[in-house]
Parts: sequence; C-alpha cells; structure tokens
Amino acid sequence: MLTDPEASNQTAASGSDRSVGSTAPATDLAARLRQAIDGRTARVGVIGLGYVGLPLIELFVGARFPVLGFDIDPVKVDHLQAGRSYIGHIESRRIAEMRECGRFEATVDFSRLVEADAILICVPTPLGAHREPDLSAVIGTGRAIGRYLRPGQLVVLESTKNVRNQRLAASMKASFLYSIG
Ligand SMILES: NC(=O)c1ccc[n+]([C@@H]2O[C@H](COP(=O)([O-])OP(=O)(O)OC[C@H]3O[C@@H](n4cnc5c(N)ncnc54)[C@H](O)[C@@H]3O)[C@@H](O)[C@H]2O)c1
Repeated sequence: MLTDPEASNQTAASGSDRSVGSTAPATDLAARLRQAIDGRTARVGVIGLGYVGLPLIELFVGARFPVLGFDIDPVKVDHLQAGRSYIGHIESRRIAEMRECGRFEATVDFSRLVEADAILICVPTPLGAHREPDLSAVIGTGRAIGRYLRPGQLVVLESTKNVRNQRLAASMKASFLYSIG
C-alpha cells in the first residue's frame, strides 16, 4: 500500500500517457517519455531484484522516481514488501524506508509491466561451460513480458556479458516488436 500522500498523488498521475495508442508517431511517444522522465513522473520497472536490480531501485527511488520491482521469486518479493533486505550491502532499514515513502513496490505479477514507462532487465546471464553467456533467463523474460508491453515504453537490457548474438536478437525482436515497432 502507498503511504506517502505526495507519492500516491504522483503515482496516480504518473508516467507518460498510457492511453496513447499505437498509432501515435514514435517521436511523440519519445517526447512524452522524455517529459515524464524530466518531471520524475515516469514509473521505472526493474525485472530481476538481485545484486544489480536492487541497488538500481535504490538509486531511482532516491532520485524520486516511482519504481515497481519484478521477480519470479515470490520469497524475494515478500521480503521486499515487508521491508527486509536479502543482500548484504543493502540494509533492511533502506528497504523499509523505500516502502514507507511509497515510491517502491515489488511484485511477481508481470501484467503490471504496463504501468512502467521504462523497463530495466537485470536477470542473470551466467557464463556457460565454454564461457558463452547463458541467455536463458533473458530469453525467458523476453517471452514472459512481450504480451504486456505497450508502445512508448523504453526497454533496457543490463548485462556485462556480450549478448549480441543472433538467437537473442531474434527472441528480443519477436518479444518486443509490439513495443519498438
Ligand atoms: N553482480 C554484478 O556485479 C554485476 C555487475 C554488472 C552487471 N551485471 C549483470 O546484471 C545482470 C544481473 O546480475 P545480478 O548479479 O543482479 O544477478 P542476481 O542473480 O543477483 O539477480 C538476478 C535476479 O533475477 C531473478 N530472475 C531470474 N530469472 C528471472 C526471470 N526470468 N524474470 C524475472 N526475474 C528473474 C532472480 O530471482 C534474481 O532475483 C546480469 O546480466 C549480469 O551480467 C552484474
């Protein structure tokens, strides 16, 4: 539940206009997103609440953006919702503060991706036996979220690995076509 009235108001009116249809020109969609980012009303969605995702959320909440965190692990989501950390260098007090200020919520419900204006994918890309990146979580995420994306959303893939390969590109294209097309 949102507890900060200022944040609640911000959330209610937040983001670029989600009623914008797929017929709006890409330049209009980009301008609306830019405006929402400048005004701190853009809602940030972070997928994968681990060593990269959680600190990123901390940064965005600190910069006064409303943030929705997504993970497939319901235990992690429950911890965060209850204001508890499971990452050593992030204190539970910080998570509790983010929850109390009303700008952070965690969920396993990926249909809520429609609420996000910018989506950062922070799922694992471990190296395989031959040091090739294992892209199964990224590809799985692409498949899982494709149906919930809408025109005008910014989607960013966070990875230190070289993920520019054809299999991933094909999967991303199939999943994100609606968003980027
Ligand atoms: N850890 C680092 O120091 C570091 C630094 C820079 C970049 N990266 C990159 O960031 C990415 C994330 O790494 P990390 O260390 O945060 O991983 P992590 O294992 O700490 O966290 C990943 C999270 O994603 C969740 N997850 C897994 N599959 C998912 C799915 N299909 N949908 C939603 N959530 C899913 C897991 O439950 C977990 O909470 C990787 O691509 C990695 O290359 C990591």
